[in-house]
This record gives sequence, structure tokens and C-alpha cells, in this order.
Amino acid sequence: MSVRMKLLCVTLVLLLTANFYDDITVKQSPVLSVCREGDASVTLRCYHDDSSYYYMFWYRQRDNNMEMLTYSLGQGLWEIQPPFEKDVHYTISRPELTRSTLEIKNLEVGDGAVYYCASSTAPGSEAYFGNGTKLTVLDPNIKVTEPTVKVLAPSAKECEDRNKKKKKTLVCVATRFYPDHVTVFWQVNNVNRTEGAGTDNRALWDKDGLYSITSRLRVPANEWHKPENRFTCIVSFYDGTDNIRVNDTISGDLQGQSGGEITTDYYVKSTQTAKLAYSIFIAKSTFYGLVVMVMIWKFQGSSEKQI
Ligand SMILES: *[C@@H]1O[C@H](CO)[C@@H](O)[C@H](O)[C@H]1NC(C)=O
Ligand SMILES: *[C@@H]1O[C@H](CO)[C@@H](O)[C@H](O)[C@H]1NC(C)=O
Ligand SMILES: *[C@@H]1O[C@H](CO)[C@@H](O)[C@H](O)[C@H]1NC(C)=O
Repeated sequence: MSVRMKLLCVTLVLLLTANFYDDITVKQSPVLSVCREGDASVTLRCYHDDSSYYYMFWYRQRDNNMEMLTYSLGQGLWEIQPPFEKDVHYTISRPELTRSTLEIKNLEVGDGAVYYCASSTAPGSEAYFGNGTKLTVLDPNIKVTEPTVKVLAPSAKECEDRNKKKKKTLVCVATRFYPDHVTVFWQVNNVNRTEGAGTDNRALWDKDGLYSITSRLRVPANEWHKPENRFTCIVSFYDGTDNIRVNDTISGDLQGQSGGEITTDYYVKSTQTAKLAYSIFIAKSTFYGLVVMVMIWKFQGSSEKQI
């Protein structure tokens, strides 16, 4: 077999095996759960769709710290990881190769965490994770409180960047809520807007003993400068029983409009950028030219040898 044929075979084998071990799906339910301190138990479920994945794991993520609670090497088998083995309030099951449950008994506030299920074919091989179950155990000393939502207009002196004066950032602040089951989304004139929207990964625990979260929406400056445009931030809050939506709206503002003229400063910057881009282009072309030359030279060399 020539080298090229061998390479082709290797590639094919790689492609085939890649298809063989197609990504498995690890499903977890429920997505979120709210319990009260002293509740008897909660059961988290995990299911995956490939019985060649013998290993299953449960992890607990709390305060940015991910710890393995348990692993299972097959149907009916499981071990609780130290230091949790003496912790009687975890019970694990693995009734089938593709299923596992984690039961937490006598719930305490400290059990509040995100629990992840994962599965792999062998120890050390790539593990696939579920999306996690977010468990909150309500603190009896803290009242369930829905968020207060406020949209803040773009600051007059927005930090200058390359998009100077072309984009405006609105900020939505949801404060003083408990528990921290919230999702934030934006609407412009009552239509969902996901482009340019970004929300903190998780709510922050405030000094005053409640949560807060912020979200940002970047919009074209000319959209912001139309007073008829309405920008709404909607916070969906789960209080343990119902999803409640709280929102705030502000209207666009003509003030601070730059008229979109290109300032000298901007012009100088952009021509500099153009010059730099052109130099990089020239450098790249030269490099590619060299690479092609070397390749041609090598190819000629090797074909001469073969003849
Ligand atoms: C997990 O989350 C991702 C991204 O949000 C989503 O696309 C995917 O469908 C979810 N997987 C399951 C099994 O729910
Ligand atoms: C807007 O987004 C929210 C939250 O993601 C969703 O529940 C709602 O169905 C969306 N509305 C439309 C009209 O797409
Ligand atoms: C915003 O809140 C008001 C008052 O609570 C409600 O009437 C309105 O339907 C809400 N708007 C959206 C888009 O959820």
C-alpha cells in the first residue's frame, strides 16, 4: 500500500469510529427543584441512551466547587465517594445500565446545589454530562421574594471601543429576590430580542441576604435614538410553585445623538486599522507563496526519486 492509500484508510477508520461512538445524550430530570428544609426527600433522575456507557457518576456543584458524590460501574452497582460514604442522606440506584437515580433525604439548606449526572465507557475516557438539576432548599429564615426589575438607559459616556457611538448598551438589574431561579430576556417593541443580549451566568448573593442578577442588551445607536422604540426586560422567576414574570420598560431617547458623523478621531483610527490589515495581508500572501514554493520543490524532488 502506498503512503497515500494508508493515509486514506486511517482517515476512513477515524471517520467510521467517530460515527460509531456518536455523542450519547445524558438526560436529567427535573431541571429544577425547590424544596423546604426538613422535607423527607427529593429524587433526581438520570437517563442515557447508550448501554456501552457502563460508568455513571453523580456530581454536586456548589459555590463553583464540583465534587463527585458517587460512581457506578454497572447495573445494580454503586459506590459513594469519600468523604460522602458516611453521609447517610444520599441513596443511589442503578436499576438499568442506562438509568440512575440520586435520592437526597432529610433535606437541609446546604443541599442546595446543581447536581450533574455523567456517563463514560471506561475510567479516564471522555465523560458526557447531563444539563444538571438545580436544587434549592428554601431557607426557612428567608422569605420567598420576587425580583424588583429596573432597566437603566445607556450611560452618556459609554466606554469607547471600535464600535464607538454605533452601539448602546442597556442594562437590566433584577434585585432582592429569593430563591435564585430566574431567567432574563429582552423585548424591543414587544418582540423577543436575543441578538446582543447577555445575562450573568448566575445570580449573586447580596450582602442584604437576597439575590440579584444583571443582563445587558446592545442595540444600534440609531435604534436607541428613536423615542417611539420600547425596550423591555422581562425576568421570569420561579417561586417554588409558579413562574412569575416581572418586567420594566424604557423608551428610546433622542438625547446624546451623535448624528452618526464620522469624527476625525474615528477616521484616523479606521485608516490605521486599514493600513495594518493591508500589511498583514501582504505578509500572509508572501508566506503562502513561500509555502507553495517549498511544496512544489519537495514534490518535484520526491517524484524525481520515484522515477
Ligand atoms: C441541554 O442544554 C442544551 C443547551 O441549552 C440544549 O441544547 C440541550 O437540548 C439540552 N439537553 C437536554 C438533554 O435537555
Ligand atoms: C420570548 O422568549 C421567552 C423566553 O425565552 C419565551 O418564553 C417566549 O415564548 C418567547 N416569545 C416568542 C413570541 O417567541
Ligand atoms: C409587564 O408587566 C405589566 C404589569 O405587571 C403587565 O401588564 C405586562 O403584560 C408585562 N409585559 C410583558 C411583556 O410581560
